[in-house]
Amino acid sequence: PLHSSLGKKKEFSQVNGIILQKKTCDFWNKIWNFQAKPDDLLIASYPKAGTTWTQEIVDLIQNDGDIEKSRRASIQLRHPFLEWIRMTHCPRPEKRNPKDNLVSYYHFQRMNKALPDPGSWDEYFETFLAGNVVWGSWFDHVKGWWKKKDSHPILYLFYEDMRKDPKREIRKIMEFLGKNLKEEILDKIVYNTSFDVMKRNPMTNYINEIKMNHNLSPFLRKGVVGDWKNQFTEAQNKQFNEYHEKNMADTSLSFCMGL
Ligand code: A3P
Repeated sequence: PLHSSLGKKKEFSQVNGIILQKKTCDFWNKIWNFQAKPDDLLIASYPKAGTTWTQEIVDLIQNDGDIEKSRRASIQLRHPFLEWIRMTHCPRPEKRNPKDNLVSYYHFQRMNKALPDPGSWDEYFETFLAGNVVWGSWFDHVKGWWKKKDSHPILYLFYEDMRKDPKREIRKIMEFLGKNLKEEILDKIVYNTSFDVMKRNPMTNYINEIKMNHNLSPFLRKGVVGDWKNQFTEAQNKQFNEYHEKNMADTSLSFCMGL
């Protein structure tokens, strides 16, 4: 059964115990059987881990830093979500520490009417820990892709690294894509994928998405590491740390909780 906090139950269903939009579930066989071509690229991210940021970086690299070309359409049209377009792209997961990820996801569910109402912060905290959120448990997601990277051509990226040294991370993505761009073009990409520029860019800020209410919480909300400290109570932090330790005991993967 779906968790009670999933208000609009009929719009959601499950595949292998993971809550997904009903339409995604209906097309699951097609999505599962999708055959990628060798040069296809898949950005595999947990919601709110920096998907849009990575999409914009990849698009600019693929367009050799041509800003006009990257403004041809909204980001979700330039880099369609596999589970929404129900058709179509070596994986490159984008991950973020779970505390900031949880806070970002909470505010996203507040402002995005296509997703269940998150309820109160305290309620959502429990829902997230239990993995009862759309697209499933953060823990299963990050550990699953971490394992896969040993057998597949995967570039595993961390939001915290991208914040700390965007140019280094953008260069990594460029090399992974087999591109060799001049230093000045890289600098241009760093600038145009900065938080402030993307927040003003209508092709990356989801401003025209009717289901989103940016007055409640803007899509590009804060874009920082460590904002969880403004939201977690001390008791929640303790509970989270215990849960995190237990659930991350079987992986070598670790996350940076503050810069
Ligand atoms: P916050 O809610 O913490 O601000 P996604 O694209 O996967 O939905 O992730 C959205 C999160 O990435 C939001 O986090 C958003 O602000 C942040 N983000 C988007 N573009 C960014 C950028 N250029 N620099 C830093 N953070 C960015």
